[in-house]
Amino acid sequence: MSDKANPFLEMFNDPEQAARYADGPAKFMPGFFDVHRMAGVLLRERAPRNAHVLAHGAGGGLELEAFARQNENWTFLGVDPAQPMLDEARRRLGPLIERVSLHHGFIEDAPKGPFDAATSLLTLHFLDAETRERTVSEIVQRLKPGAPFVAAHCSFSQTPTEREAWLSRYREFAKASGADAEMAENARMAVAEMMTLLDPGADKAILRAAGLSGVTQFYAAFTWRGWFGYAP
Ligand SMILES: C[S@@+](CC[C@H](N)C(=O)[O-])C[C@H]1O[C@@H](n2cnc3c(N)ncnc32)[C@H](O)[C@@H]1O
Repeated sequence: MSDKANPFLEMFNDPEQAARYADGPAKFMPGFFDVHRMAGVLLRERAPRNAHVLAHGAGGGLELEAFARQNENWTFLGVDPAQPMLDEARRRLGPLIERVSLHHGFIEDAPKGPFDAATSLLTLHFLDAETRERTVSEIVQRLKPGAPFVAAHCSFSQTPTEREAWLSRYREFAKASGADAEMAENARMAVAEMMTLLDPGADKAILRAAGLSGVTQFYAAFTWRGWFGYAP
C-alpha cells in the first residue's frame, strides 16, 4: 500500500470527522497527553532552545499545541496530507500558529529543513512496513546530525491469540474511557482490517533500518508503544 492508498485518509479528509477528532485519541490511547510531555522531555535533551521541529502527521494540532506551549522558543513544521486535519490544527493553535508552518502533503514533498527534532505520533501505523521505513528515512534525512526523533503508535504482539485479545482490550479501554460502544467496536474493526499492525520488535527494526541510532522504547500501554532515536 502506498501513502496515497491509505484507506484512513478518507476519514481524515472528511471535515466533520476532522472537527470531532480532538475528542478521540485520549479515549483510545492510555496516557495520550503524557506522551506529549514525555516526548517534550526527550526532544529537549538534544534540541536547542530555539529548535525548529518537524511534526509528521500533525493534523488536528494536538501535539503541536502541546509542544508550542511547553517550549515558547520552538518553531514547527507540521506535515499532513489531509487538509481538514490541517484546518483543525490551525483552528486549535489560535495565536500559536505564528510559530507553525503547515505543509499539506506527504513527507517526500515537505521542506528539507534541516530540523533540530522530529515526531510522528499516532501516524506510522497507517503505513505498511515498506512505506513506514521509507517515511522514517525521509524524516531522518531532514534532521541535523544527532537530532532526536520520537514516534508512538499502535504496536503489539501479532500472534493470532494475542492480537485478538489486544484488539478487544483496545475497544474495552475506549468504552471504559467514555467512548460510545458502537464507535469503539467500529474503531476496533477498522484497526484490525485497515492498519498495518506489527510486533513492537518489527517496529523497532524499521526505525533502525530507516537510519536511526540508539532506538529505545520509552512507552508501552495496552496496544501502544513509543520509541525515540537519533539521526546519524
Ligand atoms: C490519528 S491522526 C494523529 C494526529 C496527531 N499526530 C495526533 O497525535 O493527534 C493521524 C494523522 O496522520 C495523517 N496521515 C495519514 N497518512 C499520512 C502520511 N502518509 N503522512 C503523514 N501524515 C499522514 C492523517 O491525515 C492524520 O491527520
